[in-house]
Amino acid sequence: MKNDLVKLFEETFGRLPQAVTCAPGRIEFIGNHTDYNGGLVLGAAIDRSVKVAVARREDDRIHLKSLMETQDVQTSLSSVIRQTGARFWANYPLGVLESLKQDGLLPDKGFDLLVTSDVHPGAGLSSSAAFELASALAFSSIYNFPMTRERLVMAARRAENEFVGVPCGILDQAVSCFGKEDHLVLIDCKQITFTTVPLPKGVNFWIFNTNVKHNLVTSLYATRHQECMEAVRLIKQSLPEIDCLADVTPKQLKAHLHELPKKIGLRARHVVEENQRVKDTIAALAKGDLRTVGTLLLASHESSRKLFENSCPELDTFVDLLKKRAHVFGARLTGGGFGGAVMAMTGPEFTEVQASEVAADFAARYNNCCPAIFHAKTGDGAHVV
Ligand code: GLA
Repeated sequence: MKNDLVKLFEETFGRLPQAVTCAPGRIEFIGNHTDYNGGLVLGAAIDRSVKVAVARREDDRIHLKSLMETQDVQTSLSSVIRQTGARFWANYPLGVLESLKQDGLLPDKGFDLLVTSDVHPGAGLSSSAAFELASALAFSSIYNFPMTRERLVMAARRAENEFVGVPCGILDQAVSCFGKEDHLVLIDCKQITFTTVPLPKGVNFWIFNTNVKHNLVTSLYATRHQECMEAVRLIKQSLPEIDCLADVTPKQLKAHLHELPKKIGLRARHVVEENQRVKDTIAALAKGDLRTVGTLLLASHESSRKLFENSCPELDTFVDLLKKRAHVFGARLTGGGFGGAVMAMTGPEFTEVQASEVAADFAARYNNCCPAIFHAKTGDGAHVV
């Protein structure tokens, strides 16, 4: 893919790129909506990625082109504004640029950028975070910005929060940056630490994309964010020492649940119990106890379905079909929810044949629609190609 991208860059812009970078999509393994609540989350970088080719220009113009989009975007360093409609995609690199400027990292010249991707957009695999990470790495490379990997993650997340306008946590950008083949990335979102946890041998991941995207997904995500912040505000009245939901133990929450409005209580239970599930998953993985890990994945989905209400019938159908299958340890929605994809953790005996049967069963229930399935291998985090 690199050579094709270099060739296309040369055809488009009449010269070779100065940097080609690659950042992977990610699976949210477990830790649903725990990140912006100061909790723990486990994710894996996958072998699908966004690739960006960039070269500096002699003037202050910016020219952005995507192989997946119809509209190019042309602007200049001094007049970067948020894009809408068919040019929305350009907000990811432009947001990163603005985020770097806030850190005092100012490009002296403009640039040309060409992007390509094989991460399914809208499947909850974070193609947008991958684009941000690949852009941040490309800019740091062509402008010689001194950036640690932590700083790349922060710049990319701020782009999403402040420029794109999604109040997401750090999960997507961190996993895309710190991913490692055959490992999960463990993020402690309060301490802001990133470590890797080896995956036991024989673990396989399958992605079942419902192709459903709730049209209010961004505002539903923002509503859940607000509900969690409201839960913290209310619990703090009795437990002033807490700063975030992850500071509350399941036992403490039980004791104070009656102080919360019903809906806020459900959201808080999801986050507090999910954080505990991440801890239990880490312990089970260390023992190689994949059955227990699978049970925790299913419990996470059930909690999304009943407490956080960020699932949908199509996601539930996939999980229900998968949990009846041999060689499936567990399955759950991956990412923000309200549509998108289900991730299944399986043994090696679960192959394309079984995955296609599950997809066919799903299709039979939903007017023969054609869900996308694929075997996701774990991969490394963002790098210069
Ligand atoms: C999206 C967000 C993440 C995280 C997940 C839910 O992927 O971008 O920050 O909140 O949803 O866990």
